[in-house]
Amino acid sequence: MPSFPPKEKTTVCFAHVAYQLAARFALRNTGVQHFQVWNRDDMLARIGEADVLVCSMMWHDDALARSPRLGFVQSVGAGTDQFPKDKLKARGVRLASARGVNVRAVSEHALGLILALTRRLGEARDNQMKRHWRGMISDIGAREDELGGKTIAIVGLGGIGDRLAHLCKALDMRVIGLRSDPAKGKGHADEVHGIKALSQALPQADIVALCCPLTPETERLIGAKELGLMKPSAYLVNVARGKVVDEPALVQALSQNRIAGAGIDVTAEEPLAPTSSLWSMPHVILTPHTAGETQKYEDNVVDVLLDNLARLWRGEGELRNQVV
Ligand code: GLV
Repeated sequence: MPSFPPKEKTTVCFAHVAYQLAARFALRNTGVQHFQVWNRDDMLARIGEADVLVCSMMWHDDALARSPRLGFVQSVGAGTDQFPKDKLKARGVRLASARGVNVRAVSEHALGLILALTRRLGEARDNQMKRHWRGMISDIGAREDELGGKTIAIVGLGGIGDRLAHLCKALDMRVIGLRSDPAKGKGHADEVHGIKALSQALPQADIVALCCPLTPETERLIGAKELGLMKPSAYLVNVARGKVVDEPALVQALSQNRIAGAGIDVTAEEPLAPTSSLWSMPHVILTPHTAGETQKYEDNVVDVLLDNLARLWRGEGELRNQVV
């Protein structure tokens, strides 16, 4: 098990395809040695130089064999489902999530998808591109709708789900919260239940929003049976992980109009295969795993990282957002 080095001997590797983590870290003038790699090959080639890896989707299990110095992995994302927690633990490598850094972004994105679906903004944009001024709709069920008085079931009531609950309460909605440990409280929701109460919540919901981490309990939580319990007028919104949903079952439910539509930021495989029917369904709004994007992202991650580095240098046992 590598012991964690003092500040002057610590080297941090930032590994991200887009985020300017090293540049924003440098602005903090910590004097801590660091470098950034922008692709997985370079990460695997240089991981041996680092005591700390700041990384999210670029992770690869091969990194462990190549990183004798590695003592701490700071995830850039809220989710840590891609990291081999048992192997990290066996090697004595600590892991912390960046939970909290994208709470505002993801909850606002979820609300954006909900509003886009109910206000039919995707259709409006498609019509705009065709220079088509759509007339008013006589069929009441086919018209745009308002959210006040509607019920949302939010699966996952952590920071993101709870902020979405707060935003939905501001829109006069009824909020049913579902979380793995309901004893943690209902937050801004009107009521909270364990995940097992999903089948009772689904028939009540006009919108089902997935905001939970991907865990054995949530993997394929929404399958054909659950989609069948939703109202035909209801929308599914997924800002969690694609694998929380049985994607073929979702495609089938959407193609048979068994639910009204979906707002999807995450898919089972990313990027989504060009052959997927989800691309072209008129009642689907698809965003490319961008719910967490914000211009504050790097600075938010650096705040968590610096807190955790300080704890490690002080030899503290507990990290912020500790996972391993
Ligand atoms: C994004 O998906 C994250 O896990 O933060």
